[in-house]
Amino acid sequence: MKKLIAPSILSADFTKLGIEIQAIEAAGADWLHIDVMDGHFVPNISMGPLVVKAAKKVATIPLDVHLMITHPDQYIPQFAQDGADLISVHVEACFHLNRTIDLIKSCGCKPGVVLNPATPLSTLEWVLEYVDFVLIMSVNPGFGGQSFISNSLDRIRLLKEMIRIKDLSTLIQVDGGVTESNIKEISEAGADVFVAGSAIFGKKNYKKTINAMKRIIR
Ligand code: DX5
Ligand code: ZN
Repeated sequence: MKKLIAPSILSADFTKLGIEIQAIEAAGADWLHIDVMDGHFVPNISMGPLVVKAAKKVATIPLDVHLMITHPDQYIPQFAQDGADLISVHVEACFHLNRTIDLIKSCGCKPGVVLNPATPLSTLEWVLEYVDFVLIMSVNPGFGGQSFISNSLDRIRLLKEMIRIKDLSTLIQVDGGVTESNIKEISEAGADVFVAGSAIFGKKNYKKTINAMKRIIR
């Protein structure tokens, strides 16, 4: 399986978002990660469907919408309509996770489920077969530029084993504190999709950073 880089536009320059998206795509981004925060599920507010709709006008790669919000069911149809291709929801925010996953599918998007760093992997046991990807948060969500929580590597290894035992092809995505320096060990632990915000947008040459990351994970 080809491993993928998903730059998070949370760290992009919002005064020129369209140019940033074109630049990151030309630099080799595989998915465009869009962090939606509501000030309730996480202590920060970021962007909503309007930004997804604007991104869709310039992006040709899949839009990967990470919902860090309470009551995601209320907003999933809108995000789908505005151009999301993949939508991930936090297990901690969903009372009826199967229902939410079905809603994402019925809106024509690929579903993913997300776990905060302290949430047991066992919460995935009965939904793993219904999702395209699992997002392991390697920081507590809410802000870019935080440090990678090291035991996330063990969580990735355990999840990989759960997926293998069930004979599934679920992708493992990792988000938070991913850099050129730690991407090798994260990849070796079993991750398939790497979200990176500050480590990519914080550098001048996006192509150089993404190429370096891809060289390491292949
Ligand atoms: C954190 C977000 C991340 C964030 C990652 O709540 O979900 O996607 O943008 O930023 P970095 O890569 O800077 O840790
Ligand atoms: Zn994210």
